[in-house]
Amino acid sequence: MAGSTWTAEAPGGWLARWLAACADLADLHASNPLVDAVIDEVHGRRIRVGGQWLIDFASCNYLGLDLDQEVLQAIPAYLERWGTHPSWSRMLGSPALYEEIEVRLTELLGAEDSLLLPTLTHIHAAVIPVLADQGTIFLDARAHKTIYDGCVVARAHGATLVRFGHDDPAALQRLLRRRTDGPRVICMDGVNSMTGNPPRLAEFAALAREHDAVLYLDDAHGFGVVGERSPDEPCPYGRRGNGVVRHLGETYEHIVLTAGFSKAYSSLLAFVACPPALKRLLKVAAPPYLYSGPSPTASLASALVGLGVNADRGDQLRAALYARTRRVLDHLAELGASTLNTSGFPIIEVPLAEPDELDRAGRFLFDRGIYATLAFYPGVPREEVGFRLQVTAANSDEEVDELLAVLDELAEVVPLRPAG
Ligand SMILES: Cc1ncc(COP(=O)(O)O)c(C=O)c1O
Repeated sequence: MAGSTWTAEAPGGWLARWLAACADLADLHASNPLVDAVIDEVHGRRIRVGGQWLIDFASCNYLGLDLDQEVLQAIPAYLERWGTHPSWSRMLGSPALYEEIEVRLTELLGAEDSLLLPTLTHIHAAVIPVLADQGTIFLDARAHKTIYDGCVVARAHGATLVRFGHDDPAALQRLLRRRTDGPRVICMDGVNSMTGNPPRLAEFAALAREHDAVLYLDDAHGFGVVGERSPDEPCPYGRRGNGVVRHLGETYEHIVLTAGFSKAYSSLLAFVACPPALKRLLKVAAPPYLYSGPSPTASLASALVGLGVNADRGDQLRAALYARTRRVLDHLAELGASTLNTSGFPIIEVPLAEPDELDRAGRFLFDRGIYATLAFYPGVPREEVGFRLQVTAANSDEEVDELLAVLDELAEVVPLRPAG
């Protein structure tokens, strides 16, 4: 009985349908050591998978705070004081650490207020339905899957969901003119998780203001990395890492910014930056505030200490991050290989000339000691199938040297998609 339920011949064909939808990933999962790998040991940005040591270029710990001695040494005192895990949902009891982080975060962002919840996945599923109510959601075609899932929850609550072409304000404008009733929410990534590029924010923000809509942004990859511009900035990422809205010189008028600490700040924690009235509403209307387990103490502590590190040394860390990212981008240009990244931010997707070569490329990287994220279909369009490299402030220049040498070898064996 159990056998027939869990095989491709299962009654109704449901399992076969799911397997077909995920076929490319299922094949990679069966054969490629970069997929679903078990990490046995970590030493700086070097990791051990079974008998193989690799340099980690798949980490989103952009500022390297996961390995930062100041953060590591501060955490035990918080554990002594608060225990390992608060256990209450925030509504039932919030350790004062949350308030401390919200105050510091709101000041850093230059926003009106902010609310912390454990993850962006929770935030999208909870906040988008509240904002959209019975109105319309306009979703960028390349928005992160967790935003899409939040929109699907909103649709189940009565909202209408329409999609527009990626980063195409003209397409959005046509849709906004057609649908004028009810609340309107425009959803997209800040710094996009696959291209590494920011949206045409000024144009989208202007459309939101003109049509009395809310522009809802997920800046998981920009927060902590890019920030406000300044004549004395040490690198083009700007200062303070206060996110894509500040980086692009926008205000928060008609913008709800969400982002997470789980990337640049290495903590299981996320936030929504919004006016105080929306924060009050979310405290009673957003299910994770009422019902979900909280972030662990170590994450609250590392976010709080991380905000201090950001104030003291963040711009220095970002300058190192920029310099190393630039080396990878310049090398790809010398190789004549294309990348989706036009921003210089530290997410570098490298498409292959031939999508069917992904398994071979992944094995080659693994065998040469490079750990990268495979960009498979349908996570990316077929013509963009390849691998994603992320540099962090904790990678050394020597590790980048090794990466560049392996990219040279790889390009000889598995052609990369040519630039232009
Ligand atoms: C753009 C983007 N949004 C949301 C998420 C999910 O974040 P969380 O783990 O906080 O739910 C990710 C994670 O990779 C992401 O890249």
